[in-house]
Amino acid sequence: MLEGGRKTVHNINLVRMLDFPEHGDNRGQLVIAEGEKDVPFAIQRIFYIYGSDSDVVRGQHANRNSEFVLINVAGSSKVKVMDGKGNEIIYVLNRPRTGIYLPTMVWKEMYDFSPDSVLLCLASTHYDGNEYIRNYDEFVKIVNEMNNKEEK
Ligand code: TYD
Repeated sequence: MLEGGRKTVHNINLVRMLDFPEHGDNRGQLVIAEGEKDVPFAIQRIFYIYGSDSDVVRGQHANRNSEFVLINVAGSSKVKVMDGKGNEIIYVLNRPRTGIYLPTMVWKEMYDFSPDSVLLCLASTHYDGNEYIRNYDEFVKIVNEMNNKEEK
């Protein structure tokens, strides 16, 4: 993003809800999420989270390289997204046809899982534990360093 001629990292502005096409008839519903079409990246990996108690907080990390789309295909949960500069947004996921897009370098926390929550996660990469930033203070430091570099 260009601001006064300076490039700044504002990845949190890329976070958005996605509505997937639904094909319903008297047999039930069918929701479609195609990579590079309904989902803004090529899908390399899926994983899903269920059986988390309502007081559990998952995530609590940022990813240097991976983008994600999260969909509560059953039940509900909340996702808090933080940019490391004091901005945060909370989304409620409670519809199988709606997902949240999470770009790289945002801090995310998933919580408030309903007992029937099944949280489907689509990822743009294969798993690499080294691209995870799991310490919030370190995340803030890296965000500041990235901003300083881009302002030079
Ligand atoms: P973790 O990242 O802590 O899950 P969450 O973000 O939902 O809180 O992952 C839990 C464990 O699973 C951890 O040991 C890493 C491993 N894991 C993989 O091996 N591959 C994957 O694709 C993911 C997401 C996790």
